[in-house]
Amino acid sequence: MRIEIDRPWDMHLHLRDGAMLNLAAPHSARHFDGAVVMPNLVPPVADADALRAYRSRVLRAAGTDAENFTPLMTLFLKNQTRAELEAARKTPGFFAVKLYPAGATTNSDGGVRDFGAAEPTLRAMEELGIPLLVHGESGGFVLDREAEFLPVYRALARRFPKLKICMEHISTAAALPLLDEFENLFATATLHHLLFTLDDLAGGLLAPHLFCKPIVKRPEDRAALRAAVFSGHPKIMFGSDSAPHPVEKKECAGAAGGVYDAPVLLPALAALFAENDALDKLEGFLGGNARRIYGLPAPRGKIALEDAPQDVPAFFEGENGLRVAPLFAGTRLPWRVADGNFS
Ligand code: NCD
Ligand code: ZN
Repeated sequence: MRIEIDRPWDMHLHLRDGAMLNLAAPHSARHFDGAVVMPNLVPPVADADALRAYRSRVLRAAGTDAENFTPLMTLFLKNQTRAELEAARKTPGFFAVKLYPAGATTNSDGGVRDFGAAEPTLRAMEELGIPLLVHGESGGFVLDREAEFLPVYRALARRFPKLKICMEHISTAAALPLLDEFENLFATATLHHLLFTLDDLAGGLLAPHLFCKPIVKRPEDRAALRAAVFSGHPKIMFGSDSAPHPVEKKECAGAAGGVYDAPVLLPALAALFAENDALDKLEGFLGGNARRIYGLPAPRGKIALEDAPQDVPAFFEGENGLRVAPLFAGTRLPWRVADGNFS
């Protein structure tokens, strides 16, 4: 079988910096029309100058594919003033502000501790029409961190009714009803939360490459996310949360959270949607919803996917001995992008 879809969007992507950026950016830029690039560098991307400079590095790293790839840049929420937000808004490629609760995930120590103190920034964003993207986890028991955060989403959605708020990488059944409850709440979903549960991560031998924040959850959570996505839920957008770490930071005591799946996203999603008779919903999930919700530009053409096998390497190599293991490393995928390249 072969299908053609509009060139897709990845609405939640970690590209990093330096050698890792050079390795990762081409994997997304080759087949995606654009991506929303996360700001959790060290130090975080928190002002207009840092955002402008990071965007240039991303475009340079994307190489020849940069022509057809739009990186939309985000600011790390640090209680910016209205003037700072206005400066960011004038910067080409600026898209949104990302809220990290302090300490919730990789490089988030400088995140929000006091929601009251963030209020003026959030109010200014609402007035300026700047979307808010939220890493929605509290500090509690790992399986319940997202569920515990849901009251915060409710409070934000009520308090800032004109602010577009995106629940980034939802992972529980409990998050879904909020999309019906609040017009201004949206969500991104990842490939790995549609594919895996805690049993895949830790039920047998520990699989550190499946360890991520939010952690993969219970079978009933995965089933609810699948049902929503495969039925074409109009408020759920694909955001991979592809988050590369060097192999030695994943295969060690104290492994970093993050699944690196940018190279295999399109074949793996096509296989998953095909198995679930939902191929007709793939295009909306992979960009149609995001284009409608955020008014993103029309697609630069189509991309073809086919059910022909493709072997995934054990790792990708970058500069200075960098090695990164992708999702499905060393296995054969049943689908591929028709040009034969990894995505
Ligand atoms: C991300 C990272 O490594 O930057 N890690 C992850 O487990 N998803 C951060 C994030 O999105 O939480
Ligand atoms: Zn992320």
